[in-house]
Amino acid sequence: MIKVTPLSPQFGLLIEGDGQTTLDSLDLIPYFNEFNKAEGGALLFRGFKSDIQGFRNVTEKYGKDFKIALTNLDEREYPDQDYSLATVNEGFYAINFHTETNIPYNMNIFWMYCVQPAKEKGRTGIVDGVKVLNELTQSTIKHFEQEGGYWSVSQIGQEEWEHFFPGMSADQMKEHLAGLESVYAVELDDKNSLSFRFEQPPINKTAFCQVDAFIARILDWPEHVLRQDGTQYPKDIITEVNQAVYKHAIWLDWQPGDFLVVNNTRAMHAREAFEDPERQLLVRYSDIAEGVFKNSEQE
Ligand SMILES: [Fe+2]
Repeated sequence: MIKVTPLSPQFGLLIEGDGQTTLDSLDLIPYFNEFNKAEGGALLFRGFKSDIQGFRNVTEKYGKDFKIALTNLDEREYPDQDYSLATVNEGFYAINFHTETNIPYNMNIFWMYCVQPAKEKGRTGIVDGVKVLNELTQSTIKHFEQEGGYWSVSQIGQEEWEHFFPGMSADQMKEHLAGLESVYAVELDDKNSLSFRFEQPPINKTAFCQVDAFIARILDWPEHVLRQDGTQYPKDIITEVNQAVYKHAIWLDWQPGDFLVVNNTRAMHAREAFEDPERQLLVRYSDIAEGVFKNSEQE
């Protein structure tokens, strides 16, 4: 018996199993279909049997093109040395709401699996970017639409970029980057250090349901959301976003085995500070596999 209820009003679903069914054997396609709807955006599966291998299997069944991050590689651990399956950032500190960035790639899906929740605190926050956008004043929306947002990625050493583009020569990597959507001004200096510009406008159409949403890293890394002239957004605008986000944030009290799927182009997430060293959450990022939505339409 599977019970389905809204995760929060007009956003997301909580899908609860009976403790017997394995995550692996569950047909997730009807639930993924929710991502095409206006209230879609996050799925929390609870009460299904799984383990880390089950998490790997289920994500690979419904996802494709798993990504590794060009930034903060050292802050995570990787079971089996697979860089596409990582623990969340090390440390106990709070992290403000953000979209997961995987520069130089865009990615639609953010997958999380809870091995062990913290005894206290350590919750994950999620907020619907559609609700955040609806909360902002017209002048702030206009400001975001005019100024957009871009990351200036500079001086990535050769040893580091070779991790992300294995087997590529400097010229091949440069050509690869130049062909990517959202990447501009790719440069290599005389030591082969890499610099480029990655466009990520805070207001954008979401993947799947194609509605406007506010998605940015303006709260956790304001220095990386630059306006056209290279300056940061002013404090009052950041405060306005903060207030809108916290008005609509929902906080997940993790249970062991919880499996969360988020439309990373629609919802932002955050971490509450905690003290329990046993807390273990795993993350992966990817796009959705071919055929997931096609199959659901045929049903
Ligand atoms: Fe994150």
